[in-house]
Amino acid sequence: MILSAIAAMAKNRVIGVDNHLPWSIPEDMKFFRDKTKGHVMIMGRKTFDSFGGKPLPGRLHIVITRNANFRFDHPQVLIVQSLKEAVEKARSFIPQYGNEVFVIGGGEIYRQSLSLLNRIYLTVVDQEYPGDAYFPEFNHLPFKLTSQNDRQGTPSYSFCVYEKG
Ligand SMILES: NC(=O)c1ccc[n+]([C@@H]2O[C@H](COP(=O)([O-])OP(=O)(O)OC[C@H]3O[C@@H](n4cnc5c(N)ncnc54)[C@H](OP(=O)(O)O)[C@@H]3O)[C@@H](O)[C@H]2O)c1
Repeated sequence: MILSAIAAMAKNRVIGVDNHLPWSIPEDMKFFRDKTKGHVMIMGRKTFDSFGGKPLPGRLHIVITRNANFRFDHPQVLIVQSLKEAVEKARSFIPQYGNEVFVIGGGEIYRQSLSLLNRIYLTVVDQEYPGDAYFPEFNHLPFKLTSQNDRQGTPSYSFCVYEKG
């Protein structure tokens, strides 16, 4: 299994504010959709909430919560109570959803999964934003930048991929 985080982060590491994204970057949304389509996605309950009750089509959502009463009745949404359980469930769905599993946030779940990740797709937005959720530092871990595509715009941003060496 390849465990990949996918995130967009501001210059000051902000990824969210008031449970939504601080920016609207259509090309990054498309990048996220194209990468995750047909795959398993692991996420925290708050990130799931930020979808407004509408799971994203064509992918399996594994939602992590400490709330044993949390329910969401949908064939492509599974609720688990730990990251470990999420990863085990994701592994069991490899035959249907493929070998690459995506950790899609938010800040708490990125932080807890960091040491398990094989790959990070990180869109770095070239501007600072106020926020309340952050992508964790990972320069203490053996990740190498393996690709970078810069895009000019308002804001400018770079599609970066890091692989664990
Ligand atoms: N820019 C991006 O790429 C990106 C991507 C995703 C999200 N975001 C943003 O990030 C923000 C949300 O991030 P966040 O850090 O606040 O929340 P989060 O990581 O999405 O979810 C946190 C929740 O996950 C559950 N949880 C966390 N650790 C757990 C554990 N060890 N065991 C069981 N349950 C656990 C808890 O749910 P309960 O409270 O239900 O127990 C906790 O409140 C939003 O602003 C969102 O828009 C940005």
